[in-house]
Amino acid sequence: MTKQEAKKRIAKLRQVINKHNYKYHVLDKPEINDAAFDSLKHELFNLEEKYPDLITPDSPTQRVSGKALDKFEKVKHKKRMLSLEDIFYEEEFEAWQERIQKLVPSVKLKYFAELKIDGFAVSLIYKNGIFARGATRGDSQTGEDITQNLKTINSIPLSIKTKEKEVEIRGEVYMTKKAFEEVNEEREKQNLPLYANPRNTAAGSIRQLDPKIAASRKLDFLAYDIVTDLGQKTHGQEHEMLRDLGFRTSHEEKCNSLKQILEFREKIKRIRKKLSYQIDGLVIKVNDNEIFEKLGTVGKAPRGAIAFKFPAKEVTTVIEDIVIQVGRTGALTPVAHLKPVRLSGVLITRATLHNEDEIKRLDVKIGDTVIIQRAGDVIPDVVKVVKDLRNGKEKKFKMPVSCPACGGKVIRPEGEVVYRCANTDCGLIRRKEIIHFVSKKAFNIDGLGPQIVNKLMDEGLINDQADLFSLLKGDLIPLENFGEKSAENLIKSINESKEIPLDRFIYALGIRHVGEETAIALSQYFGSLDKLMKAGQDTLAGIEDVGQIVAQSIIKWFNRKRNKELIDSLIKNRVKIKSVKAFERKLEGISFVLTGELDSYTREEAKTRIRQLGGEVPNSVSKKTNYVIAGKNPGSKYEKAKKLGVKIINEKELLKIL
Ligand code: IVH
Repeated sequence: MTKQEAKKRIAKLRQVINKHNYKYHVLDKPEINDAAFDSLKHELFNLEEKYPDLITPDSPTQRVSGKALDKFEKVKHKKRMLSLEDIFYEEEFEAWQERIQKLVPSVKLKYFAELKIDGFAVSLIYKNGIFARGATRGDSQTGEDITQNLKTINSIPLSIKTKEKEVEIRGEVYMTKKAFEEVNEEREKQNLPLYANPRNTAAGSIRQLDPKIAASRKLDFLAYDIVTDLGQKTHGQEHEMLRDLGFRTSHEEKCNSLKQILEFREKIKRIRKKLSYQIDGLVIKVNDNEIFEKLGTVGKAPRGAIAFKFPAKEVTTVIEDIVIQVGRTGALTPVAHLKPVRLSGVLITRATLHNEDEIKRLDVKIGDTVIIQRAGDVIPDVVKVVKDLRNGKEKKFKMPVSCPACGGKVIRPEGEVVYRCANTDCGLIRRKEIIHFVSKKAFNIDGLGPQIVNKLMDEGLINDQADLFSLLKGDLIPLENFGEKSAENLIKSINESKEIPLDRFIYALGIRHVGEETAIALSQYFGSLDKLMKAGQDTLAGIEDVGQIVAQSIIKWFNRKRNKELIDSLIKNRVKIKSVKAFERKLEGISFVLTGELDSYTREEAKTRIRQLGGEVPNSVSKKTNYVIAGKNPGSKYEKAKKLGVKIINEKELLKIL
């Protein structure tokens, strides 16, 4: 075959492959079988390999291409990527309608209803018809460039027929229910923790830096918006145009009244189970684009559209235990620990029982099968006990007489439904312990400050330090100020903190009198947590930096049942304590000279830390010095280091090394 002939064959192959790709992935009507399709792709691949200069970015072979990235570049959106206000009930719809009608009194409002797909929004930019850049929503103004990964999605066309220089399309990336099950089956086989729901799995997959991983996750795309003005007058026309351009759109209906919207809603509810993807409601938009624009935005949402969500779904599960959670003000709230169950795609493990009166009203017992409900975005409620399923082994729950957190007396102030711990400091103790546990010198969990710890405790999502490690992204997303991305980041930092050097682990426990230095001394002496836990008073007291009082405090701490359970749960949740030896050698043969003041340590502390890791800390700089650590107001050593060409690092870099 001459090059000229190859060029023609390549063009023809691309056309045919694109056609079948479209039939399969967009129309869901395949015409040829997978093997024949693969064979065509194979031929194209071979020809392009022979004539690499004939490869174009929109060639079907370019869906998975390029190397893994180091990070995603930031992308500023041309137009903000807004979100929607949620409503659940008819009355709320009517209120919305009234509200906007007042702003455009002379207009007869008409609507366009479509499905609210449970995925995440992306923006796609086509330049001269070729898919050029795709981005996440991010904070609505700035997202991340995920072009490489989006190219792997077969329902996103790599080129569209248009004369426009630039066209922006928006829509939802999601994972089908089937693809999600397959991913989880695979994880189960590999003994890896299961993903909570398709939405989070899709979001996690699209954020893989290696496009090969994203490609293996089988993501999909449904389009719902054309941002560019292509002359569309209504949202309905926009959807037609999207289909003409080669995109898939969801079910839709033009509705002129609430009645029609409710009919469409019922129809969708009936087919919801059969849909290949998860939806959480409908999106209703004012159909006329001019009026939609005129209505403007309020906060982060357009006035002309709303998410008409399906009311909270109910599901049954078993109450395995009822545990008292101590609030910030010392209020004791009974929380039901449930046999994990999926509810609207989120794995539910807890439900609040509010107070003793509610327990009495529901007549709920440990072991009961109950109906739970998620109303909007809050943690689930127990709605009802299925008493017919009782077998007589259910246990009655009694409010404790002493506080489970501090042992203090429990009182129920007159006229109140809530029990409280009489110890005024109590509610804060556990919180303080957890805040200490996640702090910089302990587990150093990035993004987990006191405020979030409080929120997690208030919502009953964590009761102790170990619970942090069983949090799922789906637990966080419903919380105020949390989004897909922040939830994902926090889970990532928590996971990253799981492997921890022994001294930081000991420090994190918050044993009275055991500060950072003592924790280092203990870890150096014992080398493992096990040995420390078994140590007697005399051994402990004999260690430099410890002494009788500290030794006593350590023994007392490890003797408490709650603390033993905590250690067990931490290990069960895969916290890995790094043995000291492995980490001791880390700085062997490396020398550091300090100059200036540091924020995190005194000079002496920094020296001790470096020495404990096997490093050297000479007083003056020479050619042999490996690093000069420059703090604030560095002295003459800094100048000398510069002269000698010794590497100068700042405090942040030092902390990283340590
Ligand atoms: S319209 C200006 N249509 O829901 C309105 N959004 O809560 C922006 N979503 O961020 C989007 N299906 O991720 C629209 N058919 C649909 C949708 C949809 C799902 C998501 C989207 C958006 C969120 C808004």
